[in-house]
Amino acid sequence: MKILVINGPNINMLGIREPGIYGSETYASLVNLISDYCKGEGIEVDFFQSNHEGAIVDRIQKAYGVFDGIVINPAAYTHTSVAILDALKAVSIPAVEVHISAVNEREDFRQISYAGKACVKTYMGLGFNGYIEAVKFLESYLAKKK
Ligand code: DQA
Repeated sequence: MKILVINGPNINMLGIREPGIYGSETYASLVNLISDYCKGEGIEVDFFQSNHEGAIVDRIQKAYGVFDGIVINPAAYTHTSVAILDALKAVSIPAVEVHISAVNEREDFRQISYAGKACVKTYMGLGFNGYIEAVKFLESYLAKKK
């Protein structure tokens, strides 16, 4: 099993950005957490973070035929990007949406998720643990698909 973890804009600022919402741990510690879990499970994992919508679209396209699953936190692009939605649909790789914060309890403009429409599952408000839950979900989802 080979998975790609994609994070959108400002996720590289974890630890600095709004710690009351996103916590005080850094992006590097998020990568370590997921890497450690995947190592224990024998899952191959790659990471990609970008502040640019087109770069995220390019990375999703390049994943075609390479990865079995995608974990994606499109961050602010969640609420605006039809291009990321279309890219996920184009490659049809099972994808799980993650949000560190409880977006459902936040501002009205965060209540729409375009990318989520192409995802088989969403986790929100679980902090970094949402990414681990997403990987666990993909493990059982992909095992059932075989
Ligand atoms: C986020 C929620 C988004 O609304 C926000 O723009 C982010 C992070 C989250 O992980 O909680 O940048 O995706």
